[in-house]
Amino acid sequence: DGHPDSERLSVKQRWRSLAPPQVYALAYLAAGAAPAFQQPTQIISFSFTPARELEFTDSALRYLASPPPRAQLTYGYDRWVRRPERRPRIDGLLRALSAARAKRHQALASGVGAVAFRGVLTRILTAPYEERDGWDMNVMRVNDVLYFEEHLTEEKLREKNDLPPQQRLQTYMGYAFESYCTSATPSPSNPPSVNVPQAPGDPPGWSGDVDTNVQWCSVVRTKLGETTFVIGGEVDCVRGKYTGKTNTFVELKTSMVIRNRQDEMRFEKKLLKFYMQSFLLGVPEILVGFRKPGGEVTTTQTFRTAEIPRLVRGKAHGWDPARCLAWGDAFFKFLKKHVHSDKQTERVATGEKLQREPEDKGNEERTQPEAAVWRVTFRPG
Ligand code: A3P
Ligand code: MG
Ligand code: MG
Repeated sequence: DGHPDSERLSVKQRWRSLAPPQVYALAYLAAGAAPAFQQPTQIISFSFTPARELEFTDSALRYLASPPPRAQLTYGYDRWVRRPERRPRIDGLLRALSAARAKRHQALASGVGAVAFRGVLTRILTAPYEERDGWDMNVMRVNDVLYFEEHLTEEKLREKNDLPPQQRLQTYMGYAFESYCTSATPSPSNPPSVNVPQAPGDPPGWSGDVDTNVQWCSVVRTKLGETTFVIGGEVDCVRGKYTGKTNTFVELKTSMVIRNRQDEMRFEKKLLKFYMQSFLLGVPEILVGFRKPGGEVTTTQTFRTAEIPRLVRGKAHGWDPARCLAWGDAFFKFLKKHVHSDKQTERVATGEKLQREPEDKGNEERTQPEAAVWRVTFRPG
């Protein structure tokens, strides 16, 4: 079939664009069979503190708790400590990678082909089915390693910081669900118990007010086709014990209650994002809270990540992860071929320092490889 994916993609290095024929060649590749994806293994973890300091501890790790019946997700909205939206940067991940290399085997350094936060890779891999949101990526290459960052335009950044009140509340509800479903200490029982509220006046199950500065992140190493990836991502909590592996990780999600076939269809389309996000980090379990428009959770459902593709297979609105992986594999091969590491860069890049974008002035100091930034753009057709 006429793979439309390629026509929506452009790769540019400053003034230079890649010629269309090369983009078509990519589409040809994407038609191939699904490449293998290796089970991700954790190489290091880190936490962001309430002061948004990165530390190599598990202070922000949370344990799964059972949400109380009819949890109200608008609770605590006025006390939300909200981290302002900034350009998503790879710095934290690079610091983690350096720390992992210093602490453990140098082998971590060899063979890595791409480094990115999980959100960026989710956007890339789900592109074949994306109908609405385009993206812009910054891609940097130092020696044989590609580094990815999502590039938010000024306009997008402003949009994210000035969400209409209703959308802002909806975003908050996702975080409130996390407060009900997690605890700073492991639950003594399985299934886990409902949290005892910490502050007077808090509802049953509330584990504390939402502070979106705080995040626990896992960094994994995995392989898609022939490309070895180092991927960092936030993990919402772990079930039971923290094993230092991905096998007890749990992703928390909220979604609107399903009332009819159309709602069901919408949810099943959305499952691709839930699936890919979790799959990339090796998260085996997704707990979804279904809520009413007003914020009351009516039911919860656990999904095994590996079983999700079967739920949508063959449906008209369905999706096939194999197509995403084939596309992704071709996409990374394509970039490796066309995004060059300039000689000057290779000499400079002994440490890890990325070139600042001009519009970055005033942002925090970068800590990454000094390299030319390529802009990769995707627009849904
Ligand atoms: P829900 O997914 O339950 O709506 P994550 O699910 O990735 O752990 O993210 C936690 C919450 O952050 C989400 O909860 C949502 O409220 C908010 N969030 C994440 N990504 C977002 C995005 N791209 N736009 C708006 N809100 C987002
Ligand atoms: Mg999360
Ligand atoms: Mg979540």
